Amino acid sequence: MTPEIHFFLGKGGVGKSTTASLWGLHKAQEKNKTLLVSIDAAHNLSDIFNQTFSGKAVFVHSHLAIMEVDIDFWTKKYINKTQQQLKDSYSYLSAFNLTSYFQLIEHTPGIEQYGLFLAFENILLTQIDFDLILFDMPPTSVALDFLFLAKNSLAWLYELRTLRQKINEKHQIVSKIKFYSKNIETDKVLLKLENLIGNYEKINGFLTSSKSKINVVTNTDKLSKAETGRIAEKIKYLDHQIDTLFINKTKNSETIDYKNFRKKIIIPFSEIELSGIQNLSFFLQKKIF
Ligand SMILES: Nc1ncnc2c1ncn2[C@@H]1O[C@H](COP(=O)(O)OP(=O)(O)OP(=O)(O)O)[C@@H](O)[C@H]1O
Ligand SMILES: [Mg+2]
Repeated sequence: MTPEIHFFLGKGGVGKSTTASLWGLHKAQEKNKTLLVSIDAAHNLSDIFNQTFSGKAVFVHSHLAIMEVDIDFWTKKYINKTQQQLKDSYSYLSAFNLTSYFQLIEHTPGIEQYGLFLAFENILLTQIDFDLILFDMPPTSVALDFLFLAKNSLAWLYELRTLRQKINEKHQIVSKIKFYSKNIETDKVLLKLENLIGNYEKINGFLTSSKSKINVVTNTDKLSKAETGRIAEKIKYLDHQIDTLFINKTKNSETIDYKNFRKKIIIPFSEIELSGIQNLSFFLQKKIF
Protein backbone atom coordinates (compact mmCIF):
# COMPACT_ATOMS: atom_id res chain seq x y z
CA MET A 1 0.00 0.00 0.00
CA THR A 2 1.37 3.44 -0.91
CA PRO A 3 1.08 5.99 1.89
CA GLU A 4 -1.34 8.89 1.66
CA ILE A 5 0.43 12.25 1.53
CA HIS A 6 -0.62 15.61 2.98
CA PHE A 7 1.13 18.89 2.16
CA PHE A 8 1.01 21.88 4.53
CA LEU A 9 1.33 25.24 2.81
CA GLY A 10 0.71 28.79 3.99
CA LYS A 11 2.18 32.20 4.61
CA GLY A 12 5.34 32.48 6.70
CA GLY A 13 4.74 32.18 10.45
CA VAL A 14 1.06 31.13 10.30
CA GLY A 15 1.93 27.82 11.98
CA LYS A 16 2.56 25.31 9.15
CA SER A 17 5.16 23.38 11.15
CA THR A 18 3.11 23.48 14.36
CA THR A 19 -0.10 22.42 12.60
CA ALA A 20 1.65 19.61 10.69
CA SER A 21 3.17 18.45 14.01
CA LEU A 22 -0.20 18.50 15.79
CA TRP A 23 -1.88 16.74 12.87
CA GLY A 24 0.93 14.15 12.75
CA LEU A 25 0.65 13.45 16.47
CA HIS A 26 -3.14 13.26 16.25
CA LYS A 27 -2.96 10.77 13.36
CA ALA A 28 -0.30 8.77 15.24
CA GLN A 29 -2.54 8.64 18.32
CA GLU A 30 -5.23 7.17 16.04
CA LYS A 31 -2.67 4.42 15.25
CA ASN A 32 -1.81 5.56 11.73
CA LYS A 33 1.89 5.01 11.10
CA THR A 34 2.83 8.59 10.28
CA LEU A 35 5.97 10.23 8.92
CA LEU A 36 6.35 13.99 9.29
CA VAL A 37 8.91 15.46 6.88
CA SER A 38 10.23 18.98 6.69
CA ILE A 39 11.28 19.96 3.18
CA ASP A 40 11.71 23.59 4.19
CA ALA A 41 15.42 24.48 4.14
CA ALA A 42 14.78 26.50 7.33
CA HIS A 43 13.62 23.51 9.38
CA ASN A 44 11.40 24.03 12.44
CA LEU A 45 10.64 20.47 13.57
CA SER A 46 13.76 20.10 15.73
CA ASP A 47 12.66 23.18 17.71
CA ILE A 48 9.08 21.94 18.03
CA PHE A 49 10.08 18.47 19.27
CA ASN A 50 13.15 19.65 21.22
CA GLN A 51 15.46 17.18 19.52
CA THR A 52 17.73 17.15 16.49
CA PHE A 53 16.49 15.47 13.31
CA SER A 54 18.20 14.56 10.05
CA GLY A 55 17.44 12.93 6.70
CA LYS A 56 16.85 9.64 8.51
CA ALA A 57 13.40 9.04 10.04
CA VAL A 58 13.43 8.98 13.87
CA PHE A 59 10.44 7.85 15.94
CA VAL A 60 9.23 10.29 18.61
CA HIS A 61 6.09 8.24 19.38
CA SER A 62 5.18 4.59 18.66
CA HIS A 63 3.43 5.74 15.45
CA LEU A 64 5.16 9.02 14.57
CA ALA A 65 8.55 9.44 12.91
CA ILE A 66 10.21 12.70 11.89
CA MET A 67 12.74 13.66 9.27
CA GLU A 68 14.34 16.93 8.10
CA VAL A 69 15.52 16.71 4.50
CA ASP A 70 18.95 18.15 3.62
CA ILE A 71 18.03 20.11 0.47
CA ASP A 72 21.70 20.99 -0.35
CA PHE A 73 22.63 17.31 -0.31
CA TRP A 74 19.84 16.42 -2.75
CA THR A 75 20.57 19.41 -5.01
CA LYS A 76 24.22 18.33 -5.29
CA LYS A 77 23.09 14.79 -5.99
CA TYR A 78 20.78 16.04 -8.74
CA ILE A 79 23.57 18.15 -10.30
CA ASN A 80 26.06 15.22 -10.25
CA LYS A 81 23.46 12.85 -11.70
CA THR A 82 22.57 15.27 -14.52
CA GLN A 83 26.21 16.03 -15.37
CA GLN A 84 26.97 12.31 -15.54
CA GLN A 85 23.96 11.66 -17.79
CA LEU A 86 25.04 14.46 -20.14
CA LYS A 87 28.58 13.08 -20.29
CA ASP A 88 27.20 9.62 -21.13
CA SER A 89 24.74 10.87 -23.75
CA TYR A 90 27.10 13.34 -25.42
CA SER A 91 30.42 11.53 -25.01
CA TYR A 92 31.57 12.82 -28.44
CA LEU A 93 31.63 16.37 -27.03
CA SER A 94 34.70 15.53 -24.95
CA ALA A 95 36.62 15.46 -28.25
CA PHE A 96 35.85 19.17 -28.63
CA ASN A 97 36.52 19.87 -24.97
CA LEU A 98 32.93 21.04 -24.53
CA THR A 99 32.10 19.01 -21.44
CA SER A 100 33.26 21.88 -19.22
CA TYR A 101 29.98 23.57 -20.20
CA PHE A 102 28.16 20.93 -18.17
CA GLN A 103 29.49 22.70 -15.06
CA LEU A 104 27.01 25.45 -15.91
CA ILE A 105 24.20 23.23 -14.62
CA GLU A 106 25.26 24.12 -11.08
CA HIS A 107 24.28 27.72 -11.78
CA THR A 108 20.95 27.01 -13.46
CA PRO A 109 18.24 29.16 -11.83
CA GLY A 110 15.78 27.04 -9.87
CA ILE A 111 18.04 23.99 -9.73
CA GLU A 112 17.21 23.55 -5.99
CA GLN A 113 13.63 22.75 -7.03
CA TYR A 114 14.90 19.69 -8.84
CA GLY A 115 16.97 18.74 -5.76
CA LEU A 116 13.86 19.08 -3.65
CA PHE A 117 11.93 17.00 -6.15
CA LEU A 118 14.60 14.27 -6.12
CA ALA A 119 14.38 14.18 -2.31
CA PHE A 120 10.59 13.94 -2.54
CA GLU A 121 10.80 11.12 -5.09
CA ASN A 122 13.23 9.27 -2.86
CA ILE A 123 10.86 9.57 0.13
CA LEU A 124 7.96 8.19 -1.92
CA LEU A 125 10.13 5.28 -3.07
CA THR A 126 11.65 4.38 0.28
CA GLN A 127 9.13 5.26 3.00
CA ILE A 128 6.47 2.82 1.85
CA ASP A 129 5.82 1.35 5.31
CA PHE A 130 3.99 4.46 6.47
CA ASP A 131 0.22 4.95 6.22
CA LEU A 132 0.61 8.68 6.00
CA ILE A 133 3.40 11.13 5.08
CA LEU A 134 3.00 14.79 6.01
CA PHE A 135 5.14 17.43 4.30
CA ASP A 136 5.94 20.66 6.14
CA MET A 137 6.47 22.91 3.14
CA PRO A 138 8.85 25.82 2.41
CA PRO A 139 7.60 29.41 1.80
CA THR A 140 4.69 29.74 -0.64
CA SER A 141 6.64 30.63 -3.80
CA VAL A 142 9.04 27.68 -3.38
CA ALA A 143 6.21 25.34 -2.40
CA LEU A 144 4.12 26.28 -5.46
CA ASP A 145 7.12 25.96 -7.81
CA PHE A 146 7.69 22.53 -6.34
CA LEU A 147 4.07 21.46 -6.85
CA PHE A 148 4.07 22.76 -10.44
CA LEU A 149 7.41 21.16 -11.29
CA ALA A 150 6.15 17.78 -12.52
CA LYS A 151 3.44 19.31 -14.71
CA ASN A 152 5.73 22.03 -16.13
CA SER A 153 8.58 19.58 -16.74
CA LEU A 154 6.22 17.27 -18.59
CA ALA A 155 5.07 20.12 -20.86
CA TRP A 156 8.73 20.74 -21.79
CA LEU A 157 9.60 17.08 -22.13
CA TYR A 158 6.70 16.35 -24.51
CA GLU A 159 7.90 19.20 -26.76
CA LEU A 160 11.51 18.01 -26.60
CA ARG A 161 10.45 14.47 -27.46
CA THR A 162 8.55 15.66 -30.56
CA LEU A 163 11.58 17.72 -31.60
CA ARG A 164 13.95 14.81 -31.10
CA GLN A 165 11.67 12.49 -33.10
CA LYS A 166 11.67 14.99 -35.97
CA ILE A 167 15.48 15.20 -35.87
CA ASN A 168 15.70 11.41 -35.92
CA GLU A 169 13.32 11.20 -38.92
CA LYS A 170 15.54 13.60 -40.89
CA HIS A 171 18.63 11.73 -39.78
CA GLN A 172 17.06 8.48 -40.97
CA ILE A 173 16.29 9.98 -44.41
CA VAL A 174 19.86 11.28 -44.81
CA SER A 175 21.32 7.93 -43.68
CA LYS A 176 19.19 6.10 -46.25
CA ILE A 177 20.37 8.37 -49.06
CA LYS A 178 24.00 7.98 -47.98
CA PHE A 179 24.10 4.32 -47.01
CA TYR A 180 21.03 2.94 -48.83
CA SER A 181 19.10 1.19 -46.01
CA LYS A 182 21.13 1.67 -42.87
CA ASN A 183 19.07 2.00 -39.64
CA ILE A 184 20.35 4.60 -37.24
CA GLU A 185 21.42 3.23 -33.88
CA THR A 186 19.11 3.50 -30.83
CA ASP A 187 18.99 7.13 -29.83
CA LYS A 188 20.25 7.54 -26.25
CA VAL A 189 18.77 11.02 -26.00
CA LEU A 190 15.30 9.84 -26.98
CA LEU A 191 15.57 6.96 -24.52
CA LYS A 192 16.51 9.39 -21.77
CA LEU A 193 13.57 11.65 -22.63
CA GLU A 194 11.18 8.67 -22.54
CA ASN A 195 12.64 7.69 -19.21
CA LEU A 196 12.17 11.16 -17.72
CA ILE A 197 8.63 11.39 -19.10
CA GLY A 198 7.76 8.03 -17.52
CA ASN A 199 9.15 9.18 -14.19
CA TYR A 200 7.37 12.54 -14.11
CA GLU A 201 4.12 10.98 -15.32
CA LYS A 202 4.29 8.49 -12.47
CA ILE A 203 4.83 11.17 -9.83
CA ASN A 204 2.31 13.55 -11.37
CA GLY A 205 -0.19 10.68 -11.46
CA PHE A 206 0.34 10.13 -7.75
CA LEU A 207 0.18 13.86 -6.94
CA THR A 208 -3.13 14.19 -8.75
CA SER A 209 -4.62 11.04 -7.21
CA SER A 210 -6.92 10.90 -4.19
CA LYS A 211 -3.88 9.77 -2.15
CA SER A 212 -2.35 13.25 -2.27
CA LYS A 213 -3.92 16.18 -0.43
CA ILE A 214 -3.02 19.83 -0.20
CA ASN A 215 -3.78 21.59 3.07
CA VAL A 216 -3.33 25.28 3.72
CA VAL A 217 -2.71 26.84 7.12
CA THR A 218 -3.88 30.40 7.63
CA ASN A 219 -4.48 32.96 10.36
CA THR A 220 -7.42 35.33 10.33
CA ASP A 221 -5.44 38.51 9.54
CA LYS A 222 -5.79 40.23 6.17
CA LEU A 223 -2.35 39.28 4.80
CA SER A 224 -2.45 35.56 5.54
CA LYS A 225 -6.04 35.33 4.29
CA ALA A 226 -5.01 37.05 1.04
CA GLU A 227 -2.08 34.66 0.56
CA THR A 228 -4.34 31.67 1.28
CA GLY A 229 -6.71 32.88 -1.45
CA ARG A 230 -3.83 33.17 -3.93
CA ILE A 231 -2.54 29.68 -3.07
CA ALA A 232 -6.00 28.19 -3.61
CA GLU A 233 -6.34 30.00 -6.96
CA LYS A 234 -2.93 28.73 -8.14
CA ILE A 235 -3.64 25.16 -7.07
CA LYS A 236 -6.77 25.22 -9.25
CA TYR A 237 -4.44 25.15 -12.29
CA LEU A 238 -3.13 21.82 -11.06
CA ASP A 239 -5.32 18.76 -10.84
CA HIS A 240 -4.29 18.25 -7.21
CA GLN A 241 -6.88 17.79 -4.47
CA ILE A 242 -7.13 20.85 -2.30
CA ASP A 243 -8.34 19.51 1.00
CA THR A 244 -8.36 21.20 4.41
CA LEU A 245 -8.02 24.81 5.47
CA PHE A 246 -6.54 24.99 8.99
CA ILE A 247 -7.47 28.32 10.55
CA ASN A 248 -4.80 28.61 13.21
CA LYS A 249 -4.21 30.83 16.27
CA THR A 250 -7.89 31.80 16.46
CA LYS A 251 -9.29 33.74 19.39
CA ASN A 252 -12.99 33.78 20.39
CA SER A 253 -13.82 31.06 17.80
CA GLU A 254 -13.42 33.56 14.94
CA THR A 255 -13.55 32.02 11.50
CA ILE A 256 -13.22 33.05 7.89
CA ASP A 257 -15.17 32.38 4.73
CA TYR A 258 -13.59 29.86 2.54
CA LYS A 259 -14.16 28.41 -0.86
CA ASN A 260 -12.15 25.87 -2.80
CA PHE A 261 -11.50 23.79 0.34
CA ARG A 262 -13.22 20.51 1.14
CA LYS A 263 -13.33 21.33 4.86
CA LYS A 264 -11.96 23.66 7.48
CA ILE A 265 -10.53 23.04 10.94
CA ILE A 266 -10.25 25.78 13.54
CA ILE A 267 -7.23 25.65 15.85
CA PRO A 268 -7.42 27.97 18.87
CA PHE A 269 -4.59 30.19 19.99
CA SER A 270 -2.60 28.26 22.58
CA GLU A 271 -1.63 29.91 25.83
CA ILE A 272 0.95 27.17 26.42
CA GLU A 273 4.10 26.97 24.26
CA LEU A 274 3.42 24.48 21.45
CA SER A 275 6.70 22.61 21.72
CA GLY A 276 7.63 19.27 23.20
CA ILE A 277 5.52 16.19 22.67
CA GLN A 278 3.92 16.58 26.12
CA ASN A 279 2.63 20.08 25.40
CA LEU A 280 1.43 19.07 21.95
CA SER A 281 -0.44 16.07 23.44
CA PHE A 282 -1.92 18.28 26.14
CA PHE A 283 -3.17 20.73 23.49
CA LEU A 284 -4.68 17.86 21.47
CA GLN A 285 -6.82 16.92 24.48
CA LYS A 286 -8.93 19.97 23.54
CA LYS A 287 -10.26 17.76 20.72
CA ILE A 288 -9.49 20.29 18.02
CA PHE A 289 -9.38 17.65 15.29
N1 LIG B 1 -2.24 27.64 17.69
C1 LIG B 1 -1.20 28.36 18.10
N2 LIG B 1 -1.27 29.08 19.24
C2 LIG B 1 -0.24 29.83 19.67
N3 LIG B 1 0.93 29.90 19.04
C3 LIG B 1 1.07 29.21 17.89
C4 LIG B 1 0.03 28.39 17.37
N4 LIG B 1 0.46 27.82 16.22
C5 LIG B 1 1.73 28.24 16.05
N5 LIG B 1 2.10 29.06 17.04
C6 LIG B 1 3.39 29.75 17.19
O1 LIG B 1 3.58 30.60 16.06
C7 LIG B 1 4.96 30.64 15.70
C8 LIG B 1 5.11 30.23 14.24
O2 LIG B 1 4.71 28.87 14.12
P1 LIG B 1 5.41 27.87 13.06
O3 LIG B 1 6.87 27.92 13.20
O4 LIG B 1 4.71 26.57 13.19
O5 LIG B 1 4.96 28.61 11.71
P2 LIG B 1 5.44 28.30 10.22
O6 LIG B 1 4.30 28.67 9.34
O7 LIG B 1 5.93 26.91 10.12
O8 LIG B 1 6.63 29.33 10.06
P3 LIG B 1 7.73 29.38 8.87
O9 LIG B 1 7.01 30.04 7.73
O10 LIG B 1 8.79 30.23 9.45
O11 LIG B 1 8.14 27.99 8.59
C9 LIG B 1 5.67 29.70 16.68
O12 LIG B 1 6.19 30.47 17.74
C10 LIG B 1 4.56 28.80 17.17
O13 LIG B 1 4.80 28.26 18.46
MG1 LIG C 1 7.82 26.18 9.49
